[in-house]
Amino acid sequence: MWPYSISRRARTLKRSVMRELIAITARPDIISFAGGLPAPELFPVDDYRACVDHVLSTEGRRAMQYGPPFALLKEGLAAHMRTLGVDAAPGDIFITNGAQQGLDLLARLLIDRDSPVVVEEIAFTGIAQAFNGQSATFRTVATDTAGGTGMDVEAAIAGLDGAAAAIVVPAFHNPLGVTLSAEKRVALVEAARRARVPLIEDDPYSPLRYDGEALPALKSLDEPGPAGGVLYLGSFSKILAPGLRLGWIVAPPVVQTQLTVLKETSDLETSALIQRSVAEYLQRGLLADHLTRLRRAYCERRDAMLAALAREFPQGVRWTHPQGGIFLWLTLPEGTDTGALLPMAVEYEKVAFIPGHAFSVTGRGGRNAMRLNFSNASLEMIDEGVRRLGRFLREAVKEL
Ligand SMILES: Cc1ncc(COP(=O)(O)O)c(C=O)c1O
Repeated sequence: MWPYSISRRARTLKRSVMRELIAITARPDIISFAGGLPAPELFPVDDYRACVDHVLSTEGRRAMQYGPPFALLKEGLAAHMRTLGVDAAPGDIFITNGAQQGLDLLARLLIDRDSPVVVEEIAFTGIAQAFNGQSATFRTVATDTAGGTGMDVEAAIAGLDGAAAAIVVPAFHNPLGVTLSAEKRVALVEAARRARVPLIEDDPYSPLRYDGEALPALKSLDEPGPAGGVLYLGSFSKILAPGLRLGWIVAPPVVQTQLTVLKETSDLETSALIQRSVAEYLQRGLLADHLTRLRRAYCERRDAMLAALAREFPQGVRWTHPQGGIFLWLTLPEGTDTGALLPMAVEYEKVAFIPGHAFSVTGRGGRNAMRLNFSNASLEMIDEGVRRLGRFLREAVKEL
């Protein structure tokens, strides 16, 4: 213990359960489906090195200086947003150090102590982290995993009255793997607009679609111009590399004025070198080919995991069938405690997952569920890991 006093807020914020669990599972002898990591062998290291070299040799002094958000990166991102059906101008793009910083900035922008926020009961852990950091209260809603249509939008709409924000991960949800249906998207955007509640569209995964029709981004359904209430969060973490720590918010310029002040309190801008080298990567048109490679490889891994689950798992376990992204969600019989199973699976079968309760915003959900990641394991590891997990569950869960 450090013998000095720290703030109450710092004392009360808890480390994400996820991080603790991932530490347990990060042993070299374990086949881990626990993390949410991209495949490192697919990082475009050579292409990216060429971009960094180019930036350093043509404008090295600027790239190593303090500097404002880089205009060419905003242009590249506005063009990228058009590929997702969003008509954004460079002036609508706000650069962040990843989507997590975006969540934190939006929480700080929108939340006063006890402000209500509409969110799914099972949600990405970083959402609860960011909004707990501002002492928000959560109005949690269910998600349709069986039908795969995503958030219970009727419940979300019922919770909008007086809310400070609503948050949704519409595509290839982390951790559930489901995608918000087209009808639900329209209904949610319209209701949030009527209720004048900002709608946060946290979307790191939509470019990673492997099958099915592309659906409109919520931002593309928003009121155009400065009155738009959908705040879109993008990230390079899953489509390029998380180590870059680069993301963006699509928000009207009036909102960006406040975001700039909030961001300045912690970082005096995102790395000029990273911004310029990613802008160069986009300008060279390298992202489209890279995404094609990622989609091909991850689609194969998803298919391998689905096939292995069908082959190796007992009746009585259900799972989502994601059309993209990097996760799927398993539901075991009622009463199963996956948190208690994890240490045994690691010990006896050397295989790891994340217990569902780690994603429960209230702390009460997800007890009989688990998240599996398929982007960070080879096809052989997927086959072998799912085989071990199936064998383990048959032994350990008597209802199966
Ligand atoms: C839904 C969701 N939002 C945000 C993030 C944070 O992304 P970043 O690495 O850009 O901070 C993640 C990362 O896994 C995520 O799954």
